[in-house]
Amino acid sequence: MRILGIETSCDETAAAVVTDAGAGSARILAHTVRAQLAEHAPYGGVVPEIAARAHLDFLDDVIRATLAAAGLGLGDLDGIAATAGPGLIGGVMVGATTAKALSLVSRLPFMAVNHLEAHALTVRLTDDVPFPYLLLLISGGHCQLLIVEGVGRYVRLGTTIDDAVGEAFDKTAKLLGLGHPGGPAVERAAASGDPERFSLPRPMVGRPGCDFSFSGLKTAVRQACAGLAPDDGQAIHDLAASFQQAVADSLADRCRRAADIFRERCPGGRHLVVAGGVAANGAIRAALSAVAARAGLALAAPPPALCTDNGAMVAWAGLERLRLGLVDPLDFAARPRWPL
Ligand code: KG4
Ligand code: ZN
Repeated sequence: MRILGIETSCDETAAAVVTDAGAGSARILAHTVRAQLAEHAPYGGVVPEIAARAHLDFLDDVIRATLAAAGLGLGDLDGIAATAGPGLIGGVMVGATTAKALSLVSRLPFMAVNHLEAHALTVRLTDDVPFPYLLLLISGGHCQLLIVEGVGRYVRLGTTIDDAVGEAFDKTAKLLGLGHPGGPAVERAAASGDPERFSLPRPMVGRPGCDFSFSGLKTAVRQACAGLAPDDGQAIHDLAASFQQAVADSLADRCRRAADIFRERCPGGRHLVVAGGVAANGAIRAALSAVAARAGLALAAPPPALCTDNGAMVAWAGLERLRLGLVDPLDFAARPRWPL
């Protein structure tokens, strides 16, 4: 099977063609991501209206380039998938409507993909991870622990009670003057920082349940920032490292609890999977790898380039759905909110 996937839910205009033949990243026949960094840079964050217009401007070229790179035409495909939510609704509508139009003219099945489900299943594109698995989904808009029992079958164990973890990275980057997108900038700054220098809270650590909270940590970073000496350049690195370590410790604690529940409910389950943009972070991967080892699970994660938003994850989720006969009608409406 070969599926075209389209992703436009935030500030990445992306498309990819994936197949279930072969193994590993060779399953990605072509993959294009057109980021909108320059478009949003003057505003210090993503502006939904600008994103929607940019998707409209870029998407046709991105799809054309992707098909050309794969050496395929529409007639060589088996289906067309697009993110249909959750996300910034203008952008989601651009991608979903384009996919529907292509599906109509080519008479190919259309799959309306939940963006969170795309993150949740991406690991299976490049790695043979069987169901069920425990999933930590950490992105710019979400922070959840789920048991993935199968395609479309998710049991939520915990979620954030305030901010998403990617949002905390982006706000910390802004406070430290590191620019947007914040996650990679904080990770780079932290590489030459001392994670012990600032004593920051470890939100929710030791509390029952599997929920998350990051607003207190954000406030603590703001207060630490306000106390910095202007000539202390190293402090930016140390604060970035201290923040990153606090996040990693908090995520690790929550995952330890979730792993206990997972092993009890799914004794055959073998994997802890981490996905979403923040899963690209090396320090967080290292902390989770230790948690997984102690729980007798293997840590699995998509390659970093497939953690942040991309078309391959949407194409793969579409492929997994099509294999089960889960296709959608062309009047499927884009959804700004769509929990898993
Ligand atoms: O999954 P994603 O691309 O978009 C959403 O669905 O939200 O996630 C984007 C988030 C942003 O908050 C970004 O700062 C964060 O992922 N991120 C990272 C890293 N790369 C991206 N956070 C920490 N470390 C990274 N290396
Ligand atoms: Zn995402």
